[in-house]
Amino acid sequence: MSVVKFNVLTVPEGSGHTLEERFAKRAGLVEGQPGFEEFQLLRPVEGTDKYLVYTRWRSQEDFENWLNSQEFRKGHAQAAADADRAGHGHGHGHGHGQGGPAATGSELWGFEVVQRVSAPGE
Ligand code: HEM
Repeated sequence: MSVVKFNVLTVPEGSGHTLEERFAKRAGLVEGQPGFEEFQLLRPVEGTDKYLVYTRWRSQEDFENWLNSQEFRKGHAQAAADADRAGHGHGHGHGHGQGGPAATGSELWGFEVVQRVSAPGE
């Protein structure tokens, strides 16, 4: 049974563009992982101001293997460096431009896929 994992990102007002640029330059390693099925970056429009990183995996085990992989680490190297800088009080500005964290918080939501329907050809 497939599983869906959302990484729920808190993004300060005005920093959405920076976050989206970061994802535009993402490592692109996740799509090569065993059991990877789908990724979407979702921009909030109504009901929430959180960005959602949607991922779907063949199994919980495949997701965990990716979390523990070099590819996950490489895909988050820049995010990790930013978090570290912010944690040590050397972050400058408010997440605009190149430096500084684009997201100030994150939360993991996990689901099992009970039903899934796609339009023909989707
Ligand atoms: C510790 C909290 C996390 C933060 C703050 C975070 C933030 C980010 C950021 C800013 C990027 C863009 C690349 C970069 O700038 O480094 C990224 C990439 C990505 N994140 Fe996260 N992330 C976190 C954990 C997770 C988790 C748990 C998932 C699983 C749902 C996830 C899924 C992804 C995916 C699929 C990519 C693209 C990687 C690739 O292309 O290989 N992230 N993340």
